Order: sequence, then structure tokens, then C-alpha cells
Amino acid sequence: MKTREEESAGFIYSVFGAPADILVVLGSCLGGITRLLSSPSSVSFEDIPHFRMTTNKSHSGRMVVGKLEDRKIAMLSGRLHCYEGYSFYETSYPIRALSRWGVKKIVLTNASGAVNPSYSPGDIMVASDYINLSGCSSLSGKRRADLSSPFSPDMIDKAKSSESFGLRIHEGVYIYFPGPQFETRSEIRASRIMGADAVGMSTVAEIEAANELKAETLLISLITNMACGVKGNSCFPDEVDYVAERAEEALASYFSRLLTVI
Ligand code: HPA
Repeated sequence: MKTREEESAGFIYSVFGAPADILVVLGSCLGGITRLLSSPSSVSFEDIPHFRMTTNKSHSGRMVVGKLEDRKIAMLSGRLHCYEGYSFYETSYPIRALSRWGVKKIVLTNASGAVNPSYSPGDIMVASDYINLSGCSSLSGKRRADLSSPFSPDMIDKAKSSESFGLRIHEGVYIYFPGPQFETRSEIRASRIMGADAVGMSTVAEIEAANELKAETLLISLITNMACGVKGNSCFPDEVDYVAERAEEALASYFSRLLTVI
């Protein structure tokens, strides 16, 4: 009997052939980055066995595969979140299925709020580590896992030294809150004291699964706003979409270089 992951991977193999060299998961409003790929082909998440559809309107819910120079790249345009009603395990399912397909390098992206007051909207943060105090784990029911180095040091170095195309690049710590509400001022103040630099509502389940599956993993967060209260400010969902849409061009240029060197 095949596992769910094997059935998903078998379908993906039948559509796209041999596994991609790199998988990129595109966060909110970053789906336009798929245009970097030459000779692209794509399927909807709905058509991949056992994949669940994203309900988030800024995610298209498609898997796109194409070439960038000599690299075969797979992109997931959209992801699942716990705030959509999915379990932590379910939100990591696409990583598990694509790892079964054979992907060994994973670049995760997301939109985040700046907890570090020296960051600005439009900057990017290469994650050196993360904080998950949500009480959720995508490894539930499995064995304990070592997360002392959740991101590939080599990929971090390349991400920091790759041509920036005008983006300011930081290295910092990502903190996860389940959302969908933005955090309170006190939660953000506490996050800063704990050592966080950027905050978001996604990605951590995927990082845990990628580590469990021994994939080389990188997280690039696009800073779309100052987190609640960092500059005495409130937070507005539209601000996230507005900044992400405007930064997408520079981010696409940055990825066009980064994905050929990692
Ligand atoms: N908080 C949580 N998630 C986010 C934010 C934020 O400030 N900005 C973009 N995603």
C-alpha cells in the first residue's frame, strides 16, 4: 500500500518528471516570482492527490516547474496556514510530498513584520534561527528532533552575499504567531526581548518538516511592515499586500541570481 506522500509524489513525477534541484515556497503576494522560470508548466494544488487548497486570496494555489539557467526549479505559489483551519501537520504536507518526489534543497519565503526597529518595509531578512512558542509541532507523534541548526549555513552565506538588487539584507530570527490577528504591542515587545527580529504567521511547520526530512533549508522573509507598536504604529493587512507587490520586482531579480548559486 502506498502512503499519501508516495501517491502525491507519484502524480508529481508523472506531470513534471525527475525532481527539481530546488523547491521554492512563495509567501503572500510573492506568486509573481514564478515568472522567472523558463518553459514553465503548472498544476493546481486541487489536482495533486492529497494536496489541500489554500483559502488565502493572495495565494494562487499552483505548483509551477521550469528552468532557471541550468537548474530545474519547482515553485509552490501559495501555502497553507493554521489560521485557515489546517493542522500544523497538514500545513507541512506539501514539503513532505515534494521531499518524497526527491527535492533536497528548499527555499521558503514569507511576508513578515519587523520586530527589529532598525529594519524597514521592503527589506529582506535571511533567517538564522526561529522561535516557535505556539505549542504546535509538525512532528507531533514522531521522535524528538535536533533543531540546533534549522537553516543551512552555506545557503545563509550565499543569500547574504548574493547581489541584492537594491534590497537591504539582514540576518535575524523569525518568530511565529498563529494569527490570523496581528500581534498585540505586548506580544511584539516580548518577542523583541526574546531575540526575535521579524514576525509572521506561517512557515515554521514547513521548516520543521524540512529538517525532519534532512533537506537543506533557507528562509527569506520580506519585511512588509513594522510589527505592532515597534514605531508606535498599528498594523493593517492592506499594507502587507501593498509593500509585497511593490517589492516583488527587486525580489524576483534577487532570486534570479540566488537560485543559480545555492
Ligand atoms: N505580524 C504577523 N504576520 C505578518 C506581519 C506582522 O506584522 N506582517 C506580515 N505578516
